[in-house]
Amino acid sequence: MSANLESAQGKNSKNPEDIFDPDGNGNAIVIKDLVKQFDDIVAVDGVSLEIKKGELFSLLGPNGAGKSTTINILSGLIQPTKGTAIVGGYDIRKDLNEVKKLLGVCPQEAAVYKFLTGRENKYNLEILVTKKG
Ligand SMILES: Nc1ncnc2c1ncn2[C@@H]1O[C@H](COP(=O)(O)OP(=O)(O)O)[C@@H](O)[C@H]1O
Ligand SMILES: [Mg+2]
Repeated sequence: MSANLESAQGKNSKNPEDIFDPDGNGNAIVIKDLVKQFDDIVAVDGVSLEIKKGELFSLLGPNGAGKSTTINILSGLIQPTKGTAIVGGYDIRKDLNEVKKLLGVCPQEAAVYKFLTGRENKYNLEILVTKKG
């Protein structure tokens, strides 16, 4: 797959009415040469791909393949060692706050408390995501 990073980064062509394809090139997400290294472990080793607007895309692989690390990078929880990704036209290295406005992440494990309402769970998650310490 060839990543069309330059056109995905073109800011002038943003169409605010289409948040998933603001650059009009069909790409909702572009991942370019993404690398994540934890000490001597290379968790993500040069991943490049394009996900089109409206496409359902799955990351499949054995445990330890780097799926969660890739999602953690896309959602801004951790920084890539090399490479970058463009989400909705925004570079995760430069415009992470804009990326976070576009993304929703549903964790693998149950992440809601049954004794809280939906609104209370949402509030709890917002605190976890936005506050440090
Ligand atoms: N915070 C971390 N510190 C050190 N190694 C990590 C960390 N997170 C993940 N790894 C390692 O990176 C590799 C990829 O892990 P992960 O992205 O969780 O894989 P997957 O989600 O595909 O099972 C594994 O070898 C894992 O042990
Ligand atoms: Mg995982």
